[in-house]
Amino acid sequence: MERGKSSKGTTGAAKISRANKRSPTTGKTGTMGKRESNSLLKEFFVEQLQDILWAEKALVQELPKMQGATTTEELAEAITEHVTVTKEHINRLEQVFDMMGAPAKAKKCEAMNGLIKEAQSIIDETDEGTATRDAAIIMACQKVEHYEIATYGSLVQLARTIGMNDVAEILGQTLAEEKEADQVLSQIAESNINEEGANEQKGDLEEDDENQTEEGSEGEED
Ligand SMILES: [Fe+2]
Repeated sequence: MERGKSSKGTTGAAKISRANKRSPTTGKTGTMGKRESNSLLKEFFVEQLQDILWAEKALVQELPKMQGATTTEELAEAITEHVTVTKEHINRLEQVFDMMGAPAKAKKCEAMNGLIKEAQSIIDETDEGTATRDAAIIMACQKVEHYEIATYGSLVQLARTIGMNDVAEILGQTLAEEKEADQVLSQIAESNINEEGANEQKGDLEEDDENQTEEGSEGEED
């Protein structure tokens, strides 16, 4: 009730103009000086930066393993490209820590740790050289991308709330790249991998193995 009362008493324009007032303590615009000091929200924001820094660093280690397990060239290239992009995300985070006046410390991200473990088991459970494995790798990568999209989306919003619009802009670039990576993975899956995977049968692999051993002496049989 109280909240409703106060919002009725303040016009939207007045609220915006008050929020944009230049801070007397920092000289920055966009929020009030008190909020730019060490608020609990700012502390939480830095902790979440430490979490995503760990996640990105873990991903740089994991992606090459996933790349090595792919079947198609297209997916392998997309993952290689994302390694480069992920390294840039780490650079940006380090830049953001600098802007926040906080050390670029990584804190173990349990969510990414779990997603990586799942990705490893997906690779182990599918057969080498199949489209099914590629479909599984794409799924594992997209779970990772969606986690990162959720994290960066929230971080951009939090950065704005604590008045760090320049930080929000940097994290927004990463957010856009994560979304792009997710779309690329969807396109690759839809292009032919999923369909090819749908046609693969359990017996196919055994037959392939037999054909390979017999090819040398007897050739193909029908
Ligand atoms: Fe990333």
